[in-house]
Amino acid sequence: MNSAVVGLQWGDEGKGKIIDYLSGDVDVVVRFQGGNNAGHTVVLEGKKYVFHIIPSGILRKDKICVIGNGVVIDPKILIEEIDHLKKMGVSISPKNLRIAFLSHVIMPYHRVMDSFRESKRIQKIGTTKRGIGPCYVDKASRCGIRMIDLINPKVLAFKLKDNLKEKNPLYKNVYGSSHFSFKKILEEYSRYAKILKPYCCDTVDYLYEKRKKSFLFEGAQGTFLDVDFGTYPFVTSSNTVAPNCYLGSGAPFIKIDRFIGVTKAYTTRVGEGPFPTEFAGKLGEHIRAVGKEYGATTARPRRCGWLDLAILDRSVKVNNITEIALTKLDVLDGLKEIRYCSSYTGAFKKYSKFPYDLGEARPVYKKVDGWNEKTADTRQYPKLPKLAKDYITTIEKTLGVPIKLISVGENRKAVIKKS
Ligand code: IMP
Repeated sequence: MNSAVVGLQWGDEGKGKIIDYLSGDVDVVVRFQGGNNAGHTVVLEGKKYVFHIIPSGILRKDKICVIGNGVVIDPKILIEEIDHLKKMGVSISPKNLRIAFLSHVIMPYHRVMDSFRESKRIQKIGTTKRGIGPCYVDKASRCGIRMIDLINPKVLAFKLKDNLKEKNPLYKNVYGSSHFSFKKILEEYSRYAKILKPYCCDTVDYLYEKRKKSFLFEGAQGTFLDVDFGTYPFVTSSNTVAPNCYLGSGAPFIKIDRFIGVTKAYTTRVGEGPFPTEFAGKLGEHIRAVGKEYGATTARPRRCGWLDLAILDRSVKVNNITEIALTKLDVLDGLKEIRYCSSYTGAFKKYSKFPYDLGEARPVYKKVDGWNEKTADTRQYPKLPKLAKDYITTIEKTLGVPIKLISVGENRKAVIKKS
């Protein structure tokens, strides 16, 4: 069985935990997009692991983790992540971690550009300022530096020189940026190249050899941050949706059986952009506190709101979702009433299709009764409070997709399997 796991909302759905849970049954875990803008958290025996670039499957000893060509890599951060995880007792070597020759490298000027654009432009995106967007821009404009270039000293020197020839005057004139030193960057990145070289390979051949094994594709961010299908321009710069598993890994020969969409039992978002069901006032503070809704990468407070089934319906379609993993159900414990958005209305219209002007759309809410009982210790579906099960059934019926996993806490074991 091969699976793809993707976020159905605006990221931070709790994919790390679900991937960790599911990776027990697979051989290979592949990241296929994004970079260290992601922060996948797994809590295991009281220890908290946060993954930014390395697939969360690395916590299981016998798994192979692959960083696909669709990922953008900040080598400094990746090396720090490897070192940090090793110190926490995780074994990482070229035997269980492979990096695609064709993945692109985040350079210092990408990070600087990310910050400049955020500060100078009228339209702020609220990026993580990790250089993700500018790195993908260089990839598309054919001046990017890939891992295969990084580990070849002559190619690295040539491409860096060529980039700086263009970027130094451009950044200085447009943004007033200080000069990027060719020598300094070359020295720094040559050091990174030496460390990462043993991990790099042709992942197409590597994955093809393993095609009979079982795979899990690990999505980062969420459907509404997808550069094509998300709330553009308030999106990230990669395709976060499940069909990108193939392009971002170079492994279309692996048939995916399960498309698992992860959604919280409510909604959160970090950064700018429309969010129709966002809470105003005290409820938002309550959910943020109980759900510990602060970014795993930037520690920014997340915006919180009710579950939006209209956006989830869209996500189910664009990802071909076959089952859902519902996370953070326990955060809703004790609420008197739970609302969810079923459709949208506008000042002058009622939307029959998914709105492109989501910022103008007003949610039409339906409500169900909340439950008083604590769900965090529940491990069997029949033992959940009846009203919690009613909420789950409502989501399933509205979306037409079964919910097969329910997460009720941050620990690996706090999962309810539902048939
Ligand atoms: P970028 O990916 O850093 O360019 O940021 C673009 C948008 O995506 C911003 O709104 C970020 O807050 C958001 N974003 C990027 N990565 C994540 C993530 O892993 N979780 C949630 N939001 C994210």
